[in-house]
Parts: sequence; C-alpha cells; structure tokens
Amino acid sequence: MMDLFSEIEEPEREELRALRKELEEANYKYYVLNMPTLSDREFDEKMHRLQALEAQFPDMFDPKSPTQHVGSDLQRDNVQGTKGKGFEQVKHKYPMLSLANSYSREEIEEWVRKLPSGVEIVCELKYDGLSISLWYEKGVLVKALTRGDGQQGDNVIDNIKTIPSIPWKIEREDVPAFFELRGEVLLPWERFEALNKEREEQEEPLFANPRNAASGTLKLQDPREVARRGLDAYLYYMLGENLPGNTHFERLSTAKEWGFHISDAIKVCHSVDEVMAYIAYWDTERKNLPIATDGIVLKVNNLAQQEELGYTAKTPRWAIAYKFPAEKQLTLLKEITYQVGRTGVVTPVANLEPVQLSGTMVQRATLHNEDFIKSLDIRPGDKVWVEKGGEIIPKITGKEQSDNVQGTKEFAFPDVCPECGTPLVRVEGEAAWRCPNETGCPPQIKGKIEHFVSRKAMNIDGLGEETIDLFYQKGLLHNIADLYDLKLEDIAAQERLGEKSAQNILDGIEASKQVPWARVLFALGIRMVGETTAKKIAKKYNTIDTLMWATAEQLCAIEDVGPQIAENIVKYFEDIRNLELLDRLRKAGLQMEGEAAPEPTSDKLAGMSIVISGTFAHHSRDEYKAIIEQNGGKNVGSVSKKTSFILAGENMGPEKRKKAEDLGIRLVTEEEFLEMMN
Ligand code: IVH
Repeated sequence: MMDLFSEIEEPEREELRALRKELEEANYKYYVLNMPTLSDREFDEKMHRLQALEAQFPDMFDPKSPTQHVGSDLQRDNVQGTKGKGFEQVKHKYPMLSLANSYSREEIEEWVRKLPSGVEIVCELKYDGLSISLWYEKGVLVKALTRGDGQQGDNVIDNIKTIPSIPWKIEREDVPAFFELRGEVLLPWERFEALNKEREEQEEPLFANPRNAASGTLKLQDPREVARRGLDAYLYYMLGENLPGNTHFERLSTAKEWGFHISDAIKVCHSVDEVMAYIAYWDTERKNLPIATDGIVLKVNNLAQQEELGYTAKTPRWAIAYKFPAEKQLTLLKEITYQVGRTGVVTPVANLEPVQLSGTMVQRATLHNEDFIKSLDIRPGDKVWVEKGGEIIPKITGKEQSDNVQGTKEFAFPDVCPECGTPLVRVEGEAAWRCPNETGCPPQIKGKIEHFVSRKAMNIDGLGEETIDLFYQKGLLHNIADLYDLKLEDIAAQERLGEKSAQNILDGIEASKQVPWARVLFALGIRMVGETTAKKIAKKYNTIDTLMWATAEQLCAIEDVGPQIAENIVKYFEDIRNLELLDRLRKAGLQMEGEAAPEPTSDKLAGMSIVISGTFAHHSRDEYKAIIEQNGGKNVGSVSKKTSFILAGENMGPEKRKKAEDLGIRLVTEEEFLEMMN
C-alpha cells in the first residue's frame, strides 16, 4: 500500500521540488539581478501552487522554501548594503597557476622551436581581466572561485551568476559528473567607459582600466550592482576527471557546444610561422575587439603531451604568453591649456599634434598636475609620449630628450583661474590647484547643476550638458535652486526647445520633488560626499536641520566618513550662500527629511555585534534584527572574531556553526535571548 501511495504522490513531490527551484531562481533574478524572468502573475500562480503542495505534504516542510522566506529578504539586504558578509573561501581542486610570459617575439619563436617536432599549438588571445574557476556538478554551477592565492579563492558565485553568458545549468545528458572551467572575467570597453563616466560625474575615483574595474566589481557585495555594470566572461581551460576529448581544442569546442562563451579567435597552429602570423594579425586586430587583451597565449594542444611536459612550481611548461608592448606614440606638444572641473580642480591638458592610438585619433591628453609637468620639465614644443593603456583619458608619460626650440620658457602653472580669473589655491598635501570661486566660476556652476540633475541624484531628464550651458548663457540658471523657478515660456522660447520638451523638463523638475532625502543630500554636490556616503549620513541624520548642526567629530562617527569629508560637510553648512540655496530648495518642496531610524530604547546590547542564524519560533529574523537594534546592538551578517554572540535558531548553517566553534563564539538560543531581553 505504502509503495502504491508514494508512487501516486511522486510526480507531485517532484513538482513541488521543481517549483521551489524555479521560484528561488525567479526571486534571485527579480530581487538581486533586477531582471525579472516571470510576470508577476505567473510568479503568484506558481507560488500559490507551491503553497498548496506544501500543505498537502507537510513532511516536506523546508524553512528555506520560497514560501517561507520572502524574496525581499535579498532585496532588502542589498538595497541597504547591510549584507556585509565576506566571501566563502574555498580550496581549489587544482591550483590556479599563472603563465610564463615574454614580450619578445624571438623568445616565443625559441619556445616553439624547442617543443618536440610535430606538436600542435593552440593560439588564443590573452584576456586582460581576472581569472575565475567555475565548478559544475551534474551540470549545475555550484561554485565560482577567484584565483585568490592560487591555492584557495573567494566563492563569488552570486556575482558570477549575473553574467548572462555563464550558464547556471547545462541541460544535457552527456555532461560529466564534475568539471571545472576556467576563464577570464572582463568588463567590456563600452561598459568600462560608461562606468567611469558615471563615477566621474559622482566624483568617485575612476578605475584605471577595465581589469581593475572588473576586479572591483567582482568583489562587490551587491550582485544587483554587479549585474548593472555588465561583466562578461571568456573561458579558456577545462579540467576534471574523465572528460571528453584528448586535446585542449576539442575540450574548448565541447564547452562551446555546452553553451559557454569561447572565443572564435582560437586557432590550432602547426608551425612557428603560423604562430608568428597569428601574433602579427592579432597585434592590430585586437584593437577592434569589445574587450581588453594584453597578449597571446600559446598552449600545447595534445593533453598527453601537456602531461609529459608538466609544470614548474608556478607555471605549466606546456604554455607561454606573449605580451603586447603598451601602445604609445611620440607627438608634438603644441600648447598646454587648463580645464576646470565642477569642484574647481584645475587640470593641465596637453594639446597635441593629432596622432593615431589604439584605433582612435588623439589630440588631447592629461598632464595630471603641476608636479608632474615640473618633474619631467615638459614645455610646449617638446616631443612627448602619449599612451592610452587601459585608461579612457590618454596621458602623457614622458618626453623625448629634447631638441626643443630655444627660448621656450620653463613651464609655470597659472596663478588665476583660466575661466573666472580668481586666484587659485593649493591645499597642503594635495597635488591639485583649485579655483575657490564656487558660485561664480562658470564650469563649476554648470558642473554642479549637471551633477544635481544626474540620474543617481535628482534624475531630471532633458537637461543635458548643452541645455544647461544654454540656460546658463541665457541667464535662466545660476544655481540649482533656479531650476525650481523655471517657467514654461522661458524654456520654450529657447532655440531647439519646443513646448513639448519644455514641458518634459518641467515634469522632470516637478517629479524631483519626490526624490528621497539621501539622494537630495548627494545631489547637493558637497565635496567627497558620494552616493553611498550620502546614504549613510542620511540614515544617521534624518533631517537637514539636524545635519546642519552636526560637528565634524559627530560626523566622523558615521561609517565611511573621515575627517576630510566631515570638514567639507561642516564648511558647506557654514557658507551663508549654501544656506540661502537650501532655504529656496526647501520652499520649492524638496525632501529634506527621511524616515527616522528608531532610537535605541535600552543599551543592553550596546557595542555588541550579533549574528542571527537559523529559523525561529517566536519572532521573524527581521523582528530579531529590530530587537537587537532597539537595544543598542548591531546585527551583522558574518561570523568573525568581532562577533559578540550568535542568536542561533533551528537549522543553523553548518559553516557558521563550525566557524563559531573555531573562534569560540557563544551560541545563544532563542529562549535565552528573549530572557536576556526580558
Ligand atoms: S591559461 C595553467 N589562457 O593570464 C594555465 N590564461 O598570466 C592557465 N589569461 O591567470 C591559464 N587569457 O588569468 C590562459 N587564453 C588564456 C588566458 C589566460 C588570459 C590569464 C589567466 C592567467 C593569467 C596568467
């Protein structure tokens, strides 16, 4: 009888399991990646069906089921950035080695010639990102490890899952029980440039090149932000036991069939000449690729031959990389001009005899600052080296020792702002000269308005750089508060702007009055107060009136706020012109208050960091979090030396338990905790 029943039940139990998985994934894509795959309606229907099945099979209760925890859990953690957990560290199954490399084509030729005769060589591009090791068990992606120290890496699987070209699951019969694919995570040029542009607007430090950007992105704790940035990955090495194929090329072809992103540039070569021709071809052609490459990798194709050649402690003997030399050009420095940014920083710019570099014509390059120019004694008339490297803005890296026409004067940085004539100041310890005329210097005025309307700030559409410039020229805009006095007829009267675009701009301005306080604070453009810092400040100071009176010392108590930022904030509120501006913005109806963070009602847990783990009978995890905060404690995500204790419910994760045991951290049961809190 039992057997018969379970047979009848089995398909429904299967359905239940499948639904849990599907909804889990849908939640992840919706809340974490912000890329919903199901309509709300489909999602709800599936959730109801799952609830019904779980009621039918109470023995299959699982606290981790999507019916038991809301998808918003992920969203909340990520939105508030409170996840705060480090990555799981995992030992590599096979150490992650590096490659022997050379910049000399002769050495590469020699390496090829020394191989046993008749050996096939696979030539590939050397991608300039960071390496990743993907583990697939029964066709399912179970881990994604960074190289770490080569022996163990960080499991960044949540971030890796945001890369559309990496399959989460391979739906094929012939996939081995386990295999590992290694490859390179990259941020394509286009994404890199967009990201840096955005960071520049927000005065966040720029990424030097796509590799740094990819690496910084992969280590973020917020997979939604990772997804937004748009990483990609190219795979180049398959490992494991009993894998199909006897050659590297066959394995990569198989991986391609399984749906992995394998470059079409791979080629099996049979002679030195073929290898050198491949290098010569890609030396120029790589400039048209959407991603950064820094060389060519040569690998012995046959796996048995690879085995014979073996490894040194750090690198395989069966592979070598040829690295392209950095691209630079010599050209004439015609003139040095100066650019003033939104915060008044004056950057010297080299105006060059146009020169072709990495596929684009370059005629302007940064000279960084006064010290840089003086250290190289750069003067107009010099022949200078310009490089693009990974950076968007080309830079001058040196000069050719010099037959510069006699009579050129030694370079001197201007004393006054090239835009408004105000004497420049140089803050001690900083390399930059700055124009202090914040409210009267045109690029600073326009730059502040551009920042104020930008997407992550007040998000006002229709007001690009050119329109702001036009409104400024026509006397309609002098500061951010003027935006709220703009009239339809004033805007519509401008060339290129009809009534419709004028109305759009006004609608955008109107909508900006609903933008929350944290973003208003960011939009004000206080120096060094970026988006994240503004959020943290706004959480602590939930109205502008309290923030206005905060001392530098009080501000420094906020995470991420150092003395320099604190001083900038204090100074901002000391300036009467800013206070007048804020008064106008308040009268215009902007949000100058946020939700109050409840004040702790006791200090029973003051100074304590508490991890919540497992499931609970009396309160939800959110309620426990609130109880901890109300009593002056801090709820943190991961167990560390600093953890005061763990509030341990049922089914606490084994890894957390082990870590707690290793570090000797006390586990407090739900009952004990409630008693503590009385
Ligand atoms: S093969 C055991 N192939 O270069 C050999 N590596 O400098 C494993 N890289 O850590 C590496 N493109 O991150 C290989 N086509 C390619 C590659 C490549 C880029 C990176 C990889 C490695 C580094 C060594």
